[in-house]
Amino acid sequence: MTKRPPLTPIVAALPSFVPFVGPESMTRERGRPFRARIGANESSFGPSPKVIATMQREAADQWMYCDPDNYDLKAALAAHLNVPIGCVVVGEGIDGLLNLAVRMHVGEGTAVVTSLGAYPTFNFHVAAAGGRLVTVPFHKDKEDLEGLLDAVKREKARIVYLSNPDNPMGTWWEAGEVLRFADALPQDTLFILDEAYGETGPSSAQPPVDVSRPNMLLMRTFSKAYGLAGIRCGYAVGEPSLIQDFEKIRNHYGTSRMAQVAGAAALQDRDWLTGVVAKVAAGRERLAEIARANGLTPIPSGTNFVTMDCGGDGAFALKVLQHLISRDVFIRKPMAPGLDRCIRVSVGLDRELDVFAEELPGALAAARGN
Ligand SMILES: Cc1ncc(COP(=O)(O)O)c(C=O)c1O
Repeated sequence: MTKRPPLTPIVAALPSFVPFVGPESMTRERGRPFRARIGANESSFGPSPKVIATMQREAADQWMYCDPDNYDLKAALAAHLNVPIGCVVVGEGIDGLLNLAVRMHVGEGTAVVTSLGAYPTFNFHVAAAGGRLVTVPFHKDKEDLEGLLDAVKREKARIVYLSNPDNPMGTWWEAGEVLRFADALPQDTLFILDEAYGETGPSSAQPPVDVSRPNMLLMRTFSKAYGLAGIRCGYAVGEPSLIQDFEKIRNHYGTSRMAQVAGAAALQDRDWLTGVVAKVAAGRERLAEIARANGLTPIPSGTNFVTMDCGGDGAFALKVLQHLISRDVFIRKPMAPGLDRCIRVSVGLDRELDVFAEELPGALAAARGN
């Protein structure tokens, strides 16, 4: 057997599996494309035409490295949020920033709290850091703030993660509840508030941006309502010394030149954003109607997707998903116990929702064995 350098004990102990099966690899395996790509909570409406024009103009300049300080984008974000520039850090999507925040705070055995079945990329980073993940089940399809708080105190957790509105159920807490939760946390617990879906949720669910709390990080992204998931750009906002510490470990050339320019341009086109938010709300309505027309129960959503209770167990919902995939409709589903009775469908273009409406009855019948 050839020898190879050993992995660190933490990495050696990780399971060898591919956590994210993208629609691209599913397409390769299936040998044919999907007719509706409504599974990854992207924005089929795309970015603003002004952003596209900016990116086209910028294409020829890509031989230059990016500005490692991300200065222009950070300045634009700081002005947009009305905070000092030192309160903003930019990264490769929320995913990249979650990785950094975890690396900054989690060592082997450090307790970290999240909801059971919540956004899995966070858990992935905690595992890579050797952290000890403590999960709290959703309660009535919402993240259980009291349960999370109890777990934080019991486990002396270093981080608690909450997405609001959340993935995969789409539900949310009002801003007052989120702030009460933040106030009740021990000061040595970092609260990561993931507002990936903030723009499409009710504004009453967004606490005012507050950079005075040394134990709170707000994260947002250009991937969802701004329609730029492929560009990989997100940002975190917080108290300046916490933000400054990202400099110690972040990938300084990680946010590409194109991403920085696209993000800054996207922030400027408020009309496009307003239009997308309206289309997302209409799309949620339509998805909810399609669900009801087929005997499923749509769960109220503040995101760009609707999670639908299929009325059976996890095995049944999985069959529904598989029959939709085989009918060329890419969707996903929650997998955690209690949530797994559902499928999750992203808002897409009208023609994609038409395909979903056409194929759902057949998929349900097939799942029931009719
Ligand atoms: C709750 C949540 N956070 C973060 C992300 C990823 O954001 P980004 O594309 O900025 O990495 C997603 C994407 O689905 C999400 O659902």
